[in-house]
Order: sequence, then C-alpha cells, then structure tokens
Amino acid sequence: MCGIVGYIGPKNSVDIIVSGLHRLEYRGYDSAGIALCQGRDEKLLVIKTPGKISDLETAIRAAFAGKEARNYTLGIGHTRWATHGAPTRENAHPHVSRNGQFAIVHNGIIENYAELKARLIKKGFVFASETDSEVIAHLIEECYVGDLRGAVAAAIEKLEGAYGIAVISSKHPDTLVAVRKGSPIVVGICDGETIVASDVSAIVNYTKRVIFLNDGDILTATADSVEIASIKNVPVTREMTHIDWDIRDIEKGGYAHFMLKEIHEQPATIANALRGRLIESEGTAKLSGMLMGPSDMARIDRVSIAACGTSYHAGMVGKYLFEDFASIPSEVQQAAEFRDRNPIIQRDTCLIAISQSGETADTLAAVREGHQKGAVVMGICNVVGSTIAREAGRGVYLHAGPEIGVASTKAFTSQVTVLTMMAIALARTRRLSVNAGREMIQQLAKLPGIAEQVIAQESVIIKIAEKYADMRDCFYIGRGYMYPAALEGALKLKEISYIHAEGYHASELKHGPIALLEKTVPVIALVPNVPGKIKTMGNMQECKARHSPVIAIATEGDRDIESLSEDIIRIPPCPEFLAPIPAVIAEQLLAYHIARLRGCSIDQPRNLAKSVTVE
Ligand code: F6R
Repeated sequence: MCGIVGYIGPKNSVDIIVSGLHRLEYRGYDSAGIALCQGRDEKLLVIKTPGKISDLETAIRAAFAGKEARNYTLGIGHTRWATHGAPTRENAHPHVSRNGQFAIVHNGIIENYAELKARLIKKGFVFASETDSEVIAHLIEECYVGDLRGAVAAAIEKLEGAYGIAVISSKHPDTLVAVRKGSPIVVGICDGETIVASDVSAIVNYTKRVIFLNDGDILTATADSVEIASIKNVPVTREMTHIDWDIRDIEKGGYAHFMLKEIHEQPATIANALRGRLIESEGTAKLSGMLMGPSDMARIDRVSIAACGTSYHAGMVGKYLFEDFASIPSEVQQAAEFRDRNPIIQRDTCLIAISQSGETADTLAAVREGHQKGAVVMGICNVVGSTIAREAGRGVYLHAGPEIGVASTKAFTSQVTVLTMMAIALARTRRLSVNAGREMIQQLAKLPGIAEQVIAQESVIIKIAEKYADMRDCFYIGRGYMYPAALEGALKLKEISYIHAEGYHASELKHGPIALLEKTVPVIALVPNVPGKIKTMGNMQECKARHSPVIAIATEGDRDIESLSEDIIRIPPCPEFLAPIPAVIAEQLLAYHIARLRGCSIDQPRNLAKSVTVE
C-alpha cells in the first residue's frame, strides 16, 4: 500500500526521501513523487511520475539537469497504490494546494472527499487529480491563518475516513507536520534531523529510536525538536520504541528475491519465535505478553480468531490446536466478516487477531469491535509497535524480522508456532498433563530442524516446478490440519505465479470441483503420514482416475502413496499438529520456483500490496 517519507534537517532531503521510498517499495505501489521546499514563500517543487521509483529518479535528474546543485532541507515523498483514480502523474502524490505553497502526502481513504471537493470547487479551488487526497491540500490552504499546525488541525476536523498525512509548506521552511488516524505514522528521532514515515523500514538506516503516533496525534517537527499534541493542541507524551533489527534485515543478502530469502530464514525465524518461551520442565510455554496467569487462562471458554489471507490460514490451524489440545470451542473467521456479521462475544471469549503487518484494516476493525463487545483481545503480530499490536493491548510478537516479500512466508510458520505455544499454555490449565505437555514441547523444539530438512529438498522441488511451470490451473487438497495448508498452498501459487489455483478439503473435491479435473490440471495432495492419510489417498485415486497428475507432499520413506503420485515432495516425519509447517514450506518453495520459471515479479506481484490498510 501507499508509503510516506518526510525529512527535515541539514542533509539533502531528496536523497533521504528517495532512499526511504525504495525501502517502502515492497509494500506495493504504482506511482511515486516528491515535494521540496525551495525557500520561504516560494512555490514548492513537485516531481512525480507513474511507475517505479527508478522512473521518479529519472524525472528528478531531468528536473535538476543544468540547475545549480542545492540542498533541499525539507521535503516529503510518497509511493501511491491507486484507489481513487488511475496511476497517473496527476493522481500521484504529493498534492499541492492552489497557491502551490502547501503540499501533502496521504495514506488511507477520505470518505467524504466528494462533498468537500464540491464545496472547494465552488470557492474557486481547482483540482488537478481524481484523488480523494487532494482535498486535504486545499483544505489546509483554506484553513491557514499563519500557523501550519493549526491549519492541519482545522483541516482534519473536516475529514471522515482514515489517514496518515505528512504536510510541508514554504511558509514554514523549518517545520514538518504529520498526523494519523487509522494509518500509521512513525517518527525517527535523530540528532539534528527528523524523519517521518509510514513504516520503520524507511527510517531504520538512520536511527533505531522511533515514536509511533496514536490516532488523533499531530506531530510538529523541526530538525531539532519533536512535539506531539492532540487536535485541540493538548501536548501528549508517546513512548520511544527501540527497533531491534537493522538494515541488513531488509536487504536481499545474496538471494534473488526477498521471498526466497524469507523462505530460507524459516529455521531461524521459527527458533526466534520459540526462544525463551518453552518451559520443558513444566510441559508448557510462557508467553508473558498474554498478560495472563493460569487462573485467567482457565477462565477462557471460547476462542474467536480473526485474520485475513495467509494469517487467516494460520488461524485455521490455531482453531484445530485450541480444540484438540485445550478443548476450548473455537472459531476462525475472515476479519472483515467478523465485524460485518455482528458476532457473539461472551465475557470470557478471547479474540485473537493475527496479522503479520499489524496494520490490516479489517483485522484492526475486528480488534476494535472485540474491545467494544468486551472480549479479552489478543494480537499475534510481527511488526513491533504496529497498530493492532498496540490496540490489542496484549498478545505475542513473532520476532520473525521484517517480511518484505509481498507473499507472506516466514510469518505463517511463526504464527502457527506461536498459536501452538498458546494452545499448550491454555491446555495446561485444563486436561493436558505435564508429561503430554512436555512431549509437545520437545516436538516443538525440533521444528527449526524440520524446516531445515524441507529446505534441503529444494533441488527436488525445482525439478517438479520445471515440469509444471506451464500449467494453467491446479488444485491443492488436504484434510484435518492439512486443509488450511491446502488453502495456503493455493494462495501462495496464485498470488505470485498468476496460475489459477484452488485449495479444497480433500473430500469436498467430489462435491463439484472434480468436474474440472483432466490431464492438464494437476492436483497437489497433502498426504503426510498423519490421521486421515488413507482417506486422502482415496481422493488421490479419484484424481488419478480423471487423468490429473498428482503431486504428493508426503512423509519421508512413506511408500503407500507412490503408486498414486506422479511426483513426490518429501517432508520429515512429525506429529499431525506440526505437519502444516513443513508442508507449507514445501508449497512455498514450489510456488516460488514456478513463479521464477514463469518470469513473474515475485516480490511485488501485480495488484497486490504488502499491507492492506483499506477495508
Ligand atoms: C498472502 C498475504 C496476504 C496477507 C493478508 C493479511 O501471501 O500476504 O494474504 O496474509 O493481507 O496480512 P497481515 O498478516 O499483515 O494482516
């Protein structure tokens, strides 16, 4: 989704903003731009272009050609993911006001922009774009009476919707203003300079000390000071967060794509999720962020999980875990549906919101609805300080490090790892004995090694990818814990390779989709040696009888499936409750290599954004 970077300080803001925008490329975008202060009361210099940051860099070089080099000490930049209006130069941000002295960049959606625009047009404001965002620039000019912060506060009082906004004005060449409601803004605290961005990735090269704005906060920054106040100008204090990862974590480190790097990181990221949390002697896991002792845990009588996409698939595994081990009635729902269908929440319902980014709009809405209905709300997030992590108020971080590839990989395996630990902790307050808990903990501790062994199969997976890279459609089937893994495999393949792929419960195939099977439609059968295998083998027979080639993801050494499978990817033996992790890692590698062979844009697939902050 859209990205914001703003800078004020002694350095040339062009370099800092453009390098920050590069760091935000992974979020997905289709145009970019920059606005620079050229001097007090002068018109702001705006350079923008459809396409990539490299196109913006070309446009910047062209704009500066033959001009004397100068230091622009104040500027804002943006990457736009089109919503209102096509990805054109006119619709790209920054947008400037009528007099050319106020510029804004905006993430989010202004819901009442049409009526605001109509009123402003009547007053003589001329609009250059089709966006909802441009109204903000004109409103700020309209509200300005000598005080930039005051003008921003007055303007946003008129806005309905969600926003993270950064503002500059040539009337205040020493001030950068930013505001948030529903769309993240983070401030990097450096000596003698201030950087503002929508994502820590754009800042971490300069400082590890950051402050996340809360909804309703207005930031007024100079090179040496940062003041945060409410819309009514009441000063507020926000905690400083220390970022515990560095720039190397958002570089490819020799891999062809971030997605491949992140797949290979999984032995380490799973180990990070487990670190310090397994208490083998007590047969349990300690997750201090849940802020719950055994008696609080014992009171939970229902678990409701809300998430989107890959995180939703992790949530499905979570539901099975909570029911199997803790015997707690559990449900999982797409986060948007959670709010849209007015769910029943009782006093001791625990709502678990799962989100890698911690910014997904639908999941955030579920968190707010959960609080409103009195649930015990818990977040499982990767991004420290993200909105869901903060608003949930309690929960567990993944510690997987930044996930840059748009297709989620390492987050899934860490989410399932964390959910397994949560299920064990809850189960130990119920019927799970210390010995049984200890056995589960010992199995969990083997996960990094299991992930390693799947990744060691990569050369086999590449050969299979070569064989099927030209397919147009395929199905993934599984049952029990393998059902969410089937859905996740299909999602991974379709989003990065653009092959039409669908995941089904193995048994559901015959209730309709089997009509599509023929020799050009492969079926990927998740059939490790766990309960349900024999039944899924029956479903593989059904596929084979319709001439569909079957690719099995099966346990090492299992010969039962050989006669039913055209190709086999082997995963190490492990208990059923852990099997989604190796199975999904195998699927990630298969999807990656098929997409690579098809020449797809793997880290930034078409139409997708890393963090979906619109509902
Ligand atoms: C798929 C993918 C998406 C995300 C979904 C939720 O590879 O990345 O389906 O899983 O948009 O995102 P988070 O987990 O950030 O809430």
